[in-house]
Parts: sequence; C-alpha cells; structure tokens
Amino acid sequence: MKIYKKQGDTVQIICSPEESVEKGDYLHIEDRKLKKGLIVQVVDIQFANLPGILEDMLRDVMTEEYVPGRDYDPLNVSSQIDILKDTKLLVCKIRGAVENGRVRTEASWLPSRTTSRIVHYPIERLASTKGAKRPVTLGRTRTDSLTVDVKMLDGRLNIITGKKGVGKSHLSKLLILSLIKNGAPCLIIDINGEYVNLGLGKDDKPSPVVGKISVLKPGVNLRFSLAGVGLKTFLDTMIYALDLPRTSSKVFCRIWSELEKSGNLNLNSLNEMIRRFSCHESVREAIYSRFSTIMDLELFTDDPRLEFDFDLFVERMNGGHAYIINMKDEHSISRRLIVELFISKLTEQLSDMRLRAVFLFAEEAHFYLRETYWDDIVTRMRHLGIFTTFITNQPDTVQESVYRQADNIFMFNFTNEHDLEAVSRVAKIDGESLRLIVKDLPAHRCLVVGDIVRDFPVVINVDPLEVQTMGQTRHFFQD
Ligand SMILES: Nc1ncnc2c1ncn2[C@@H]1O[C@H](COP(=O)(O)OP(=O)(O)OP(=O)(O)O)[C@@H](O)[C@H]1O
Ligand SMILES: [Mg+2]
Repeated sequence: MKIYKKQGDTVQIICSPEESVEKGDYLHIEDRKLKKGLIVQVVDIQFANLPGILEDMLRDVMTEEYVPGRDYDPLNVSSQIDILKDTKLLVCKIRGAVENGRVRTEASWLPSRTTSRIVHYPIERLASTKGAKRPVTLGRTRTDSLTVDVKMLDGRLNIITGKKGVGKSHLSKLLILSLIKNGAPCLIIDINGEYVNLGLGKDDKPSPVVGKISVLKPGVNLRFSLAGVGLKTFLDTMIYALDLPRTSSKVFCRIWSELEKSGNLNLNSLNEMIRRFSCHESVREAIYSRFSTIMDLELFTDDPRLEFDFDLFVERMNGGHAYIINMKDEHSISRRLIVELFISKLTEQLSDMRLRAVFLFAEEAHFYLRETYWDDIVTRMRHLGIFTTFITNQPDTVQESVYRQADNIFMFNFTNEHDLEAVSRVAKIDGESLRLIVKDLPAHRCLVVGDIVRDFPVVINVDPLEVQTMGQTRHFFQD
C-alpha cells in the first residue's frame, strides 16, 4: 500500500488487489524516519483510475466480441495490466496519530509518500477499553473483538438506528443485559412485546438474571390509583394526549381539588362529580368524554392491593433491576398515559434523591413521547439522572437536538437518502464517512461512534445472544 494523495482530512491510498481491506478498517501509516504515524480509517474502496486503463478495457471488450480464442501476448504483460486494472484506491479519513507508542486524536503533519509503511491497525488498541471494570463485548471486527465499558452509557444519551430488521432491538437487548449484570436500573418501553423473555435462555430455562427482570402489562399488573397518579399527570394526559381545551382543564382542576379536600378521591365520585358539577354544558361534555376514554383503558383502580407499588419500584431499581413495560396491543392513549406517568414519577423520585438513576430504553418514541419532552430528555432529565437510549427505524422522527447531543450512536444500514440526511446530523462523525460506511452495511453489522469507542468510529458484527430475542417478523409463507 502507498499514499497517493492527501486533501484536508482525507488520505487516498493505492492498494494491491490481493490485500484484504474492508470499509471501517483502520490503517497505520508509519513514517519510519519521523518515528511517528497516522491512524486512518477506510471509508470507501474504489478502483484506481490509472491513465490508459479505460482504453485497454475498451479494447478487451471489443476483442472479446470479434476475435474468439486466446490473445497473443509475447512479452507476457497482460497479467501485470490485469493487476493494474484491479488495483484499489482506498479513501480514508484521518482519525489520529501515534507518537512514541501513544495514540492521539490530533494530527497536523504529513508522512512521507515514499518511505512510509502502511499496515493494518488493531481496533482493540484504539477503541476497546483496557482494564474495563464493567466489560461488555459488543461484537467483532474481522480480526478483533470490541470490548467496551458499560459505564460509557452512564450519564449519556444514546441512539440506535437503522432500517427495518437489521438488528437494532437485538443490540439494545445486549446493552440492557450487560447493564442488568452490572446492577444498573433499567426501564424499557417495549412497544412490540419483544423484550418480555429477556430472562429466558434459548432452551426456555431461566437465565441467571431472571430475578432482576420484571415485566409489566398495563391493565394486568400495571394499574394506578387516582391519588397515586396525581392531578398534574392526569391533567397532562388529558391535555397532551386527548387535547382537552385549557378552559375545561381549569374546571377539571377544581373538581379534583374538591374531591381531594373532602378525602373522597376515587373513580366513582370523580365520575359523579364531573356529571353534576355546575359549569357550561360544553365544558362538562369536553371533560366527561376524555374521562370516559381514560376509564375505558382500565388502567385505574380504587383497590390499593391492585395498585402499582412505586415504592417497591424505587427500592428494586436502586438495587439494580429492569422493568419492561409491555405495550404490545396497547391503545395509543394508554401508551401516552403510561409514559407520561412514568416520566413524571421518575423525575419526582430523582429530584427527591430517592432514585439514583434510570437507564431508559425507548423504542419508536414518537408513538408515545410528546413534543415537549424531547428537549427535556436531552437537557433537564439527563441532569436529573434519566439516561435515554432511543431506538428507531425512522430517524426523522427523532428530533435534531437528540442527534447533535448524542454521546453514543449505533448505526445500522440505511440506503434511503432521506434517512441518511437525518442521521448525518450527529456531531461525533463527519457526514461523508457516515454516509459511505452506513450505506453498505449488511444486517447485524453496525457502526459504533462516540464515547463508548473513545471517539474512534468502529464497524462491528454484533454478537449473538443467549436469551430469547423474539424479534422475528411473523410470516405466512414458511419456506
Ligand atoms: N447480531 C445478531 N446475531 C444473530 N441474530 C441477530 C443479530 N441481530 C439481529 N438478529 C436477529 O435478526 C432478527 C431481527 O433483529 P431485530 O429485531 O433486532 O431487528 P430490528 O432492527 O430491531 O427490526 P425492527 O426495525 O423491525 O424493529 C431477530 O430475529 C434477531 O434475533
Ligand atoms: Mg426492533
């Protein structure tokens, strides 16, 4: 391999056809005179366009058609020309430099074109965390495995994105399992009901973490009391999920306060009170229709024994536990209400210092997260201790601020220009590298960028899991 060109942070390298190179590989351009080297990453592999090659290939095509049989090649140059035709041009981005055996992220000098030696550089030395206290192996490159520290998800905002069926939920399960193993509190909003068997091995036997996982099914083991939910959350749901007009919301506040004062806050009396409260008919109608919609979801109960125990939730979470909310087949209002409720409860418990932190995993959050929460999650809630991982196959549904502020990004394949445009807003990697690498990723292969790989973008094959991942799409034709 030889350096051909350097322009800005892009280096082009001429590479022989025999050399095995893949997109995402790291190369070390070692200048033996200066005793230092550049670390570059291959982002695209092209053919080297040498002068005269086109002419030669055109001649090949023409003679193939008109002169059958073997070419007469007395000087035996055709094999050399064939090699030249297949010579590769590697488009690489400078990611750092090595000086005195130490890797730095800045490099402002040029290695020699003639005396430099170019060799593969092991990813393990760049991105893996040596001596990690909480190691997790995310996957493998062609030659190394990538082991990182789960701590790098702590206090961070993460995104897992890619088109349908490429392995996003699989990776998110891998991260959740390693968080649980390390005693971290996780809350998973599972809209497809595919995380519910995370505690079971492939052989249906319980895995060692089974005791640390609880699955919540709304209406079954997840029901709330009016007092437990509180006026603010109840009202927010009526306003944001059910469009209750402002004037009506004031009246609803009065109704609720009166019941609270008289110590009679339960479903029946609230129902009665709305029906006979003295206010304009249209206001009553507005409140009552929303109230009925919420009641139809069967998420509320007056029986304290059936009510979800938030104190136990906090206690378990602090000791390291994962709660999976199975939202499969749930009505969109029920999803919104539950998320609204949990986020408001979490912020309350985190501000009171009762809860230490929460790793929140949100699949396709645009289905249930209201507009005003996005910025909140990026800023205020992160400071309180809610560390979110967004998982989506529709990258344009995630707000731009999330991409800009994300600390770790796990990107699977995207081919659609519109999707690539949305994801190229991430600040941790240049848009050109991202587009070139992500476009060609096969399923289960992902580009990892951010703190977790010490800001060296790495392409890995995500490791398989020993638990039931349940991500398969159902099919009618079985062959
Ligand atoms: N690294 C992997 N090794 C082995 N199997 C995998 C891997 N990644 C994903 N799979 C399998 O591929 C299938 C699809 O994966 P997954 O459900 O994670 O995709 P997805 O990107 O979340 O899809 P969707 O966009 O539909 O949610 C699943 O059956 C899963 O078990
Ligand atoms: Mg999925």
